[in-house]
Amino acid sequence: MNKFYITTAIDYVNAPPHIGHAYEKIATDVIAKHYRQRGIPVFFLTGTDEHGIKIQRTAAEKGISPQEFCDETANKFKEAWELLNIKYDRFIRTTEPDHERVVQHIFKTLVDKGDIYKASYTGLYCTGCEAFLNPRELTEEGLCPNHKTKPQEIKEENYFFKLTKYKDRLKNHIKNTPGFIMPEYRANEVLNQLKDVEDISVSRSKESVSWGIPVPDDESQIIYVWIDALSNYITGAGYLNNDELFRQFWPADVHMIGKDILKFHAIYWPALLMAMEIPLPRTILAHGWITIDQSKMSKSLGNVIAPKTIIDAYNLENGDPLRYFLMTTTPFGRDGNYSDEEFKNKVNADLANNLGNLLNRSLSMLVKYFDGHITTETGFSEIAQMAESTKQTVIEKFNTYDLTEAAEAIISLVDTANKYTNEQAPWALAKDEATMPQVGQVLYNVLETMRFVSVLIYPFTPNIAQAIWEQMSLPGNVFDVLLSELKWGGLKQGKIASQDTVKPVFLRLDSELAGEKKKK
Ligand code: MSP
Repeated sequence: MNKFYITTAIDYVNAPPHIGHAYEKIATDVIAKHYRQRGIPVFFLTGTDEHGIKIQRTAAEKGISPQEFCDETANKFKEAWELLNIKYDRFIRTTEPDHERVVQHIFKTLVDKGDIYKASYTGLYCTGCEAFLNPRELTEEGLCPNHKTKPQEIKEENYFFKLTKYKDRLKNHIKNTPGFIMPEYRANEVLNQLKDVEDISVSRSKESVSWGIPVPDDESQIIYVWIDALSNYITGAGYLNNDELFRQFWPADVHMIGKDILKFHAIYWPALLMAMEIPLPRTILAHGWITIDQSKMSKSLGNVIAPKTIIDAYNLENGDPLRYFLMTTTPFGRDGNYSDEEFKNKVNADLANNLGNLLNRSLSMLVKYFDGHITTETGFSEIAQMAESTKQTVIEKFNTYDLTEAAEAIISLVDTANKYTNEQAPWALAKDEATMPQVGQVLYNVLETMRFVSVLIYPFTPNIAQAIWEQMSLPGNVFDVLLSELKWGGLKQGKIASQDTVKPVFLRLDSELAGEKKKK
């Protein structure tokens, strides 16, 4: 692998970011950070989807222009990602000129090729999905199954994309390309949807939607919002604008998306790329949905939670606990849940009690018994083997994007180191001068394991990882360490800690000190 290009879905700007949007961006960032640790050039694209009727209406309700409204909300997304330490390479907005040019180019190319044609059409349109629904997809009451709203009957003369022309090629591609749709169990769902596909409407009349990219040479029509949105993945990688970037990074290695928009990504998007003769992305990775206290987040239920609300409520110094919780709450791909109770319990158990305490007590012992000096370097032992094999497991789990299992493997290494410390009981060994060398060895093993943990956990909790790194006086920054350089024996002899440098890297969410910080 000589490059890694990963994208997220681009969020509609009709509402500010919530923890469902955050879940996806965090997962993408975790993968991007891990691949950077492999020394591979990574390009990470995220952004906002700013056209369409929903946004037009919301802006009108607020009495501002759609562009002003988009600018306002796009900034809220950027701020949220900053707060959560999400480091993308480009934040694309579909209202940007380079993107509008790409979308018009695609449309024109496909008209010229005969893959887009004009016809009149009557269909049922769901504004929530921004899509025409097949009557077979509706609930018994005739509602959209996702939004539980009645779709609107629309009769218009539109442009159509010859999706049916690519149906067989696409079916073969899905069947014969392992890893194209992940998790694999979702591929069948797509193959079923593919059976029913018809040509799709790819424009709307300007009277029905004015906020969008005009069809080239036909001012009366606006390009359908999904064609506009999906194309962001090539604009973002430089298509038509930066050949060098595009040659380096396309095709995308991963399109990270929610399970609700799989059809658009696994059917419409590859068919469009086939029509454009552009190579297909390697993997479409569909994640599950986050519920709140087991209910779907919705404005009407009033249970929409912004990432910042959680950060403020617990007075968190950074987004690490939320990143960690969301990545470990459910096997990746399945639906997960947020509740305050589960959040507190999980981060207290893993980050404070398990990880934080182990570092704290081993460094404290190092200060007490050896004035903070590493006095010995141990060779290969069972614990060294465990650290090395955890690194391998983490790499393998990331190969298949099993993020939750990767995180679990890391925490289980911390568990082992905790158990090892308790079994060896260095505090008891330290009572006898004769066994002091053994104390030094035990502390070396535990602290060298913590160095491994800090590198491995960095994609999930970058701030905590750096804090561990600094407390152990390790050189440089944790994010500069490549996985290929992470080998047992990196911790060297010498003074690494003193009484005033040893402090908790993560405070329990209900601890007194955390309360103190809150009062300040
Ligand atoms: N604009 C389209 C995507 C276009 S991609 C070319 C869209 N926007 S969205 O704002 O509705 O959703 C953006 C992403 O957030 C989607 O991948 C969606 O699945 C995800 N999520 C929205 N709510 C979510 C949860 N409650 N939980 C997890 N992800 C969720 O669809």
